Amino acid sequence: MHFDAIGRVPGDPILGLMEAYAQDPNPRKFDLGVGVYKDAFGLTPIPQAVKLAEQRLVDRQNTKTYIGGHGEPAFGKVINELVLGADSALIAEQRAGVTQTPGGTGALRLSADFIAQCLPGRGVWLSNPTWPIHETIFATAGVKVNHYPYVGSDNRLDVEAMLAVLNEAPKGDVVLLHACCHNPTGFDLSHDDWRRVLDVVRDRDLVPLIDFAYQGFGDGLEQDAWSTRLFADALPEMLITSSCSKNFGLYRDRTGALIVCAKTAEKLVDVRSQLANIARNLWSTPPDHGAAVVATILGDPELKSLWADEVEAMRLRIAQLRSGLVEALEPHGLRERFAHIGVQRGMFSYTGLTPDQVKQLRDHHSVYMVGTGRANVAGIDATRLDLLANAIAEVCK
Ligand SMILES: Cc1ncc(COP(=O)(O)O)c(C=O)c1O
Repeated sequence: MHFDAIGRVPGDPILGLMEAYAQDPNPRKFDLGVGVYKDAFGLTPIPQAVKLAEQRLVDRQNTKTYIGGHGEPAFGKVINELVLGADSALIAEQRAGVTQTPGGTGALRLSADFIAQCLPGRGVWLSNPTWPIHETIFATAGVKVNHYPYVGSDNRLDVEAMLAVLNEAPKGDVVLLHACCHNPTGFDLSHDDWRRVLDVVRDRDLVPLIDFAYQGFGDGLEQDAWSTRLFADALPEMLITSSCSKNFGLYRDRTGALIVCAKTAEKLVDVRSQLANIARNLWSTPPDHGAAVVATILGDPELKSLWADEVEAMRLRIAQLRSGLVEALEPHGLRERFAHIGVQRGMFSYTGLTPDQVKQLRDHHSVYMVGTGRANVAGIDATRLDLLANAIAEVCK
């Protein structure tokens, strides 16, 4: 038969972890694996602002005909302002354009194909480690993948090593940077570090691609945009991929954007014509529902303020879980060893636990996390911090 020679590829290890967790009968189990936000009840809720916006759409939307290749202009406007700032000179000069995409993943794939087709021969530089899908998206598009060091085997951010390697990158290559809440490590660059990276990007004439998947989960909606705006204001050209999956809770509605900043408004039109062309061959036109929800929320001061409060509540819950876990480890003499959990930002933490310790946590304590020691902090039940700390202390003996 035609399909006889087709073998099986292994599934995503995180999905396997989810299955194992679901099958574990222990009522005291912890799911620190899958990368979605969870509330105090272990649920991934739909924000109230999203529910209200959806209701408005149900009442008012009168067509589901196709939208344009770049998506809805109303969505483009609000995302540009959310990411670059309402007072951005780039927006005023019409040098920043939004293409609506199916999630942040779609924006990354569109970027990868854009690089392959419009900047041929350019490689991309990814942090080591990075979100595994970065590796496969660029490789699949035919873009050469290179790595710069980020977090060493001692589980510390190594900015010097990062800068040294980027300093050797071929001129014109693309460097992918996580705007905030680095996935998988949780280690973010300081403002000073960002300025130093900017100097290297400028010196080496690199094209920055900033992946902005967790706006609002680090230090706040505006604060998290600091690095992206620093680059956008200082450089003539860059790419930004933005995701509404986490901060709007719109995961399955596949809502995201690729923002391109160009040197002139005219050049932006050229670049956008290429993007629409590439997108046409990928998904034709983007999904609408999530983007319409985002445009509704950000276009209405009341809904926007409700949403901003809801994002802030998610952010604070994660920050409290981080400091709570470090405190709960104190009686075990482990505060110092795990202090980095309080310093990291966003949902993820490179805990520094070894694959063997991760296995022991899973086999003996029903604590599920990725084999690299990456934990989703948002998955912690705040009422059982002591139990989790005990389990960690057990496997660290
Ligand atoms: C670093 C990073 N970039 C991009 C994404 C894309 O998210 P989505 O396609 O769900 O919007 C994710 C999601 O986990 C991520 O962690």
